[in-house]
Amino acid sequence: MKHLIDPMDLTVEEIDQLIELAGKIIENPDKYREVCKYKKLATLFFEPSTRTRLSFEAAMLDLGGNVLGFSSADSSSASKGESVADTARVIAGYADIIAMRHPKEGAPFVASQYVDIPVINAGDGGHNHPTQTLTDLLTIRQEKGRLNNLTIGFCGDLKFGRTVHSLIKALSRYEGIQYILISPEELQIPEYLKKEVFEKKGIPFRQVEKMEDVMSELDIIYMTRVQRERFFNEADYIRLKDSYILDLDKLKSAKEDLSILHPLPRVNEISVKVDDDPRACYFKQAKYGKFIRMALIMTMLGVSADED
Ligand code: CP
Repeated sequence: MKHLIDPMDLTVEEIDQLIELAGKIIENPDKYREVCKYKKLATLFFEPSTRTRLSFEAAMLDLGGNVLGFSSADSSSASKGESVADTARVIAGYADIIAMRHPKEGAPFVASQYVDIPVINAGDGGHNHPTQTLTDLLTIRQEKGRLNNLTIGFCGDLKFGRTVHSLIKALSRYEGIQYILISPEELQIPEYLKKEVFEKKGIPFRQVEKMEDVMSELDIIYMTRVQRERFFNEADYIRLKDSYILDLDKLKSAKEDLSILHPLPRVNEISVKVDDDPRACYFKQAKYGKFIRMALIMTMLGVSADED
């Protein structure tokens, strides 16, 4: 596993191994406290982040390594016109592994072509977010005990939501997943995903506009925010931003063991009153993000604890 740019860079076996290692780290974190001693992670974030950047940094620190980096394009020499390729080549001389977020689709891939250290895509535009996908898969495995035979509703901005795109791709390799895509017509998943994932693999999916119509069927609801930063005009964002608000009333028809996931940040698409419902998993999900990134960093750097 040289670089992680797209969730499909990982085989199902590699995903299983990462989830298994993350589970071992959750059980016994002390065993992994020094496995990355003297190693450095560079977090190159050209776009805002709370969870991804800080969980990557916490992951490396909890493995005994060090972190360096920047949290916005403005505080790097990108603001002076430096290219992604030049930035990556320079940082490869300072660090052992790079996690990069960029508003332009494909930027982490470009970086990976110029360096001989692993590059992890920490989110590129509206394209992919493979480490969020690993976080989501770990959460589903922990909550449901399996990654197959599940009915999953993806709700909200399915057009620009890169976490949805990556998770749909990754789940397409597991058996028995029923996909229900809940969005306004303008925010449906991109055509390329319909063609390259669902149609190519012969996987059925349903598209609906109202979450109430399908709530009772779902094992998992994956909520997303409307991605303001990817809209071309503010008027469209304002018209669509409140399309879905999950509240306790809408949950009345849901299964008792429904799992509510959200990659976060949340704006208003899940009422805060839902936070105390035992079906709400999104803060746990954010916590799992650190453990799966610990497993990923270890695997990509080729380090292990005794007996792993
Ligand atoms: N889920 C996620 O990517 O969150 P951040 O944008 O805060 O990193």
